[in-house]
Amino acid sequence: MTGWLVVNHFVKSKKFMEIFNMLQEAAERQQVNLIKKTNVELMCGLFDYDNISIFEKPSFILFWDKDIRLANFLEEKGFRLFNTASAIEICDDKSLSHIKLSQQGIKTPKTIVSPKIYWDVDYEKEEYIDMVIETLGFPLIVKECFGSFGRQVYLVQNKDELIELLKSLGVRPILFQEFIESSKGRDVRIHIVGGKMVTSMYRYNDNDFRANITNGGKMKEYTPADAQIELAVKVCDALGLDFAGVDILFGENDEPVFCEVNSNAHFKNIYDCTGVNVADYIIRHIIDEINGFNLDMKLYAN
Ligand SMILES: Nc1ncnc2c1ncn2[C@@H]1O[C@H](COP(=O)(O)OP(=O)(O)O)[C@@H](O)[C@H]1O
Ligand SMILES: [Mg+2]
Repeated sequence: MTGWLVVNHFVKSKKFMEIFNMLQEAAERQQVNLIKKTNVELMCGLFDYDNISIFEKPSFILFWDKDIRLANFLEEKGFRLFNTASAIEICDDKSLSHIKLSQQGIKTPKTIVSPKIYWDVDYEKEEYIDMVIETLGFPLIVKECFGSFGRQVYLVQNKDELIELLKSLGVRPILFQEFIESSKGRDVRIHIVGGKMVTSMYRYNDNDFRANITNGGKMKEYTPADAQIELAVKVCDALGLDFAGVDILFGENDEPVFCEVNSNAHFKNIYDCTGVNVADYIIRHIIDEINGFNLDMKLYAN
């Protein structure tokens, strides 16, 4: 079987190359010819889709990027994408994931999605800022809708700090969120593939409210509670994700609270922590889906 691994032409750091290599090695172990293609090579309107050689014609596309326009175009061309364009799009935008999941009975922190703005706003004069403060209290979290590795997540202590931050963020889309104090500096990352948990880890940071490893957090092997696994599986089902990394916060009495979901979650750290190679599971899942094995099993189960 041949597939394409679609990556971003402009992303060249070691951190990403490691993931691409792990996926290609996992494919090779399972006799899949996984050809790397960039979003520049495949550009809509430039690439010749009508003359792909029979050796290169993919049975599937493992889309390891967030170039949602290209993903949509490839689906229009009839390719099966893993993950699908819509799943990637919803995960990439933290406000869209919140909107979808909070309507499916999934416990999330109290969240206010900021209105769209086109130019600088005079926040001192906007009453809704006071309503946000009244609803969430301090400290509160501000998140840019698009961000990763904890870099675009902020903890704000008072109104002056909030206004200063909002001014610095300009017109970027954001949301305001209740700070889950009981989860300060810690969370659980669960990797789901094909609706099942593959591995998980506990992440913690004693010096920062964000647990991300890239931001200095540490990791430990972790056996999640059933309720945490159920939440992660439910998130993936609700968004139609073939695979994902789900971040879960510790609410009151350790109640699982959804933090965010990553459609292209990095899995090198969790491999170092647990020895489980998520890439192997992703490739297995794709083969089963393409061969209709999962479908047969589902029919059989019914
Ligand atoms: N509402 C919250 N309450 C407490 N901690 C949070 C909250 N939201 C995020 N965090 C912390 O910040 C980290 C980064 O937030 P997250 O939404 O996962 O963004 P990113 O995509 O940058 O990883 C989380 O792993 C968690 O440790
Ligand atoms: Mg995260």
